[in-house]
Amino acid sequence: MTRIISILNYKGGTGKTTTTVNLGAGLALRGARVLCIDMDPQGSLGTWLGVRHTRSVADVMLGYADPEQCIVPARENLDLILGSHALVHAEAQLWKFPDERVSRRVLYHTMKHINSYDYILLDCSHSISMLTHNALLYATELITPVSMNYLAMVGIRQVINTLKTIGRIPDHHLKLTLVVPTMYYERLRKDREVMQLLEYYFRGKVAEPIRANVKLAEASSHQQSIFEYAPDSYGALDYARLVERVLRNDE
Ligand SMILES: Nc1ncnc2c1ncn2[C@@H]1O[C@H](COP(=O)(O)OP(=O)(O)OP(=O)(O)O)[C@@H](O)[C@H]1O
Ligand SMILES: [Mg+2]
Repeated sequence: MTRIISILNYKGGTGKTTTTVNLGAGLALRGARVLCIDMDPQGSLGTWLGVRHTRSVADVMLGYADPEQCIVPARENLDLILGSHALVHAEAQLWKFPDERVSRRVLYHTMKHINSYDYILLDCSHSISMLTHNALLYATELITPVSMNYLAMVGIRQVINTLKTIGRIPDHHLKLTLVVPTMYYERLRKDREVMQLLEYYFRGKVAEPIRANVKLAEASSHQQSIFEYAPDSYGALDYARLVERVLRNDE
């Protein structure tokens, strides 16, 4: 069965895109069939992996194209549906629907027959938008990357509030499966304290931290995943560990 995972924190710059790319690439390297969908109008996923396509997820949501026409191969076992600026237009169209229950489920209805993947990862933008709601109502799991600062903790609280709202929607069960600490400096007391807080609030759901590692930032400008760009780096090591943790959740 396909695991559909939204990657979200309402704070910007917490490592959502970095996690989507490298978790997706890592799962694909372990032999899983993976589709990553970019729900952010900035369209960073395609830029990161050096993939271009005329169609984006906006075409899927606006009914201009079938998902199959928008899927583009990025690596062995790893496909993408790109994001684009047209998502801004898609969002505006969704707000015009008379019934919010329908407009929030457009992605679910257009994608529900896509069942040939082991994992579908959705890279969400940090805005509380109709696009994010569509991602959350399509996904069954949520992974939240949290960088080591107070605002990222506030962002996660907003995610929890959203989860509560979605929990009231009949027939949709979305659960927070993992909190991923990112940009972690072990030698900083502040970071160790944030880790303790996360462990306290999300007992059993906190992944091993992804350490701050400049190779992760560099990999994007080389249009490579961390496993291609710097396979021996801390970044590759930490994301490989996250991949194993996500695979373990399969069991
Ligand atoms: N572990 C890390 N170590 C060092 N730099 C990192 C790490 N993770 C992410 N970064 C860098 O931090 C910045 C923000 O990361 P990223 O784009 O993944 O965040 P985001 O949550 O997707 O942001 P946005 O909310 O804008 O979509 C990027 O420049 C990225 O290269
Ligand atoms: Mg991003």
